[in-house]
Amino acid sequence: MELFGRKGKRVLGLDIGTSAIKFVDLKDTGRGYQVDNLGFTSLPPETIVDGSLMDTTSVVEAIRELISNYKIKKKEVAISVSGHSVIVKKITLPKMTESELEENIFVEAERYIPFDINDVNIDFQILSTPEKETGEHMEVLLVAAKKDLIEDYIAIVREAGLSPMIIDIDSFALENMYELNYPLEIGDLVALCDIGASIMNLNIVKGGRSLFTRDISIGGNLYTEEIQKELSVNFEEAEDLKLGGVSEKGSPHTIDRVLDKTSSTVALEIAKSLDFFTATFPEERIARLYLSGGCVKVPRLKQIVEERVNLPVEIINPFTNISVNPRVFDPEYLNDIGPIMAVSVGLALRRV
Ligand SMILES: Nc1ncnc2c1ncn2[C@@H]1O[C@H](COP(=O)(O)OP(=O)(O)OP(=O)(O)O)[C@@H](O)[C@H]1O
Ligand SMILES: [Mg+2]
Repeated sequence: MELFGRKGKRVLGLDIGTSAIKFVDLKDTGRGYQVDNLGFTSLPPETIVDGSLMDTTSVVEAIRELISNYKIKKKEVAISVSGHSVIVKKITLPKMTESELEENIFVEAERYIPFDINDVNIDFQILSTPEKETGEHMEVLLVAAKKDLIEDYIAIVREAGLSPMIIDIDSFALENMYELNYPLEIGDLVALCDIGASIMNLNIVKGGRSLFTRDISIGGNLYTEEIQKELSVNFEEAEDLKLGGVSEKGSPHTIDRVLDKTSSTVALEIAKSLDFFTATFPEERIARLYLSGGCVKVPRLKQIVEERVNLPVEIINPFTNISVNPRVFDPEYLNDIGPIMAVSVGLALRRV
């Protein structure tokens, strides 16, 4: 598993989400990046549940559809995983070199990982900060992902005719995307939160480093399920109502009430995690919270979160520092889909 590649050949960023598969292809202009190609296609409900692939055929078909609809030529892709099968932990270890750690990582990791060590892929990054360099300990970011999950993802991507070169983690892709687009904020402590259909990835970062990550099983599907319950409709009807569809089964007023109630639940979950972080790092102050993922489109969610967490909240634009040819892509359209492409952009920034 290659998690931290930054140099080398460009790859296509392919974000296999619960509700939709998104891709972004970037090219180097010599002065930065430009969008070469991008798109998405939705997946039927229950295709992916909590990060696990339940219906591989639908995923393969969806990827093939993207390849043919968007005339994707590039074969090398970066994909990502998240959810319960992925563990990201910051651990403190006696100081050692990278190659010493390489040899010892399995022994060290065993103490921190709730799965059988033989069932996981392990990667790490030494986070030695200058002030700690003289000490006897070092901080290490430990990443473990269930092998069977990774293998499933690799298999479907291959079956669709692509070569998975990098397996990333949603939260890290988000961080990469953020660092490219908001370089002036490098000294600020900020919280990045991607709210998708089933998982919310939270990553608190500062100075190009992740201080805290957490995946919470909550997202757009919760809104849909709440509408389903309230109006006794099926998932598809509820999803349609959520997206602004009209039906005699529920007035816009009722829908709004359900949306706001669910947004309060989402906001509370974010607040709980931020409070946990602040309790762990009492000396740190979060400057602002960035939201991405399809749920940023839920009306009033931003305001509800803002009131709950008591921080400035902004919607991420992953194309802030990526140029776009307006003759090829409508800037307004990119603006509109930007928050949904946040993870894909982060993946497209990886190199083999
Ligand atoms: N206009 C909208 N109003 C409300 N919700 C929306 C809107 N557009 C998209 N969504 C919701 O956003 C979610 C999809 O977002 P996204 O593509 O970021 O998720 P995903 O990556 O597929 O899921 P996950 O990351 O959880 O695996 C869905 O629940 C969808 O209903
Ligand atoms: Mg997602």
